[in-house]
Amino acid sequence: MIIAIGSDHGGFELKEKLVKYLEDNGHQCVNVGCHTSDSVNYAPIAEKVSRKVVSGECETGILVCGTGIGMSLAANKIKGIRAACCSDYFSAKYTRLHNDANVLCMGARVVGYGLACELCDVFLATEFEGGRHQSRIDEIARLENGETLL
Ligand code: RB5
Repeated sequence: MIIAIGSDHGGFELKEKLVKYLEDNGHQCVNVGCHTSDSVNYAPIAEKVSRKVVSGECETGILVCGTGIGMSLAANKIKGIRAACCSDYFSAKYTRLHNDANVLCMGARVVGYGLACELCDVFLATEFEGGRHQSRIDEIARLENGETLL
């Protein structure tokens, strides 16, 4: 898959290792930075990855910061992005099956390298189930468009 991947300084080291892991496993990574361990804000990086996913330039996105939370909050502000912050295998699998998540966020201070690789693997390999979950995704899009579901 073609994957947009980015991190802030908190996720830099893990992100660099993940780029190598993913490329060794046949994926193509578009590494949007950061490219050093210097302190950098996470929102612009989340936006860069998200725009590449929404435009279709990349099939999916991966974001790493200290907790994974800042990245997910920022990415979810971009229309069309469903970013999931995961630190367990079940969530990484089901956010694809049920939420059709298109960006995986992880916290480098939360998960180790081995688990992060497993989370990427299952996230990338799992297809959206569709069916009853499609109308739920459609409702998220309506909220994004300023509609009310009430
Ligand atoms: C940076 O210190 C840290 O706040 C950031 O990486 C992230 O965890 C924010 O959610």
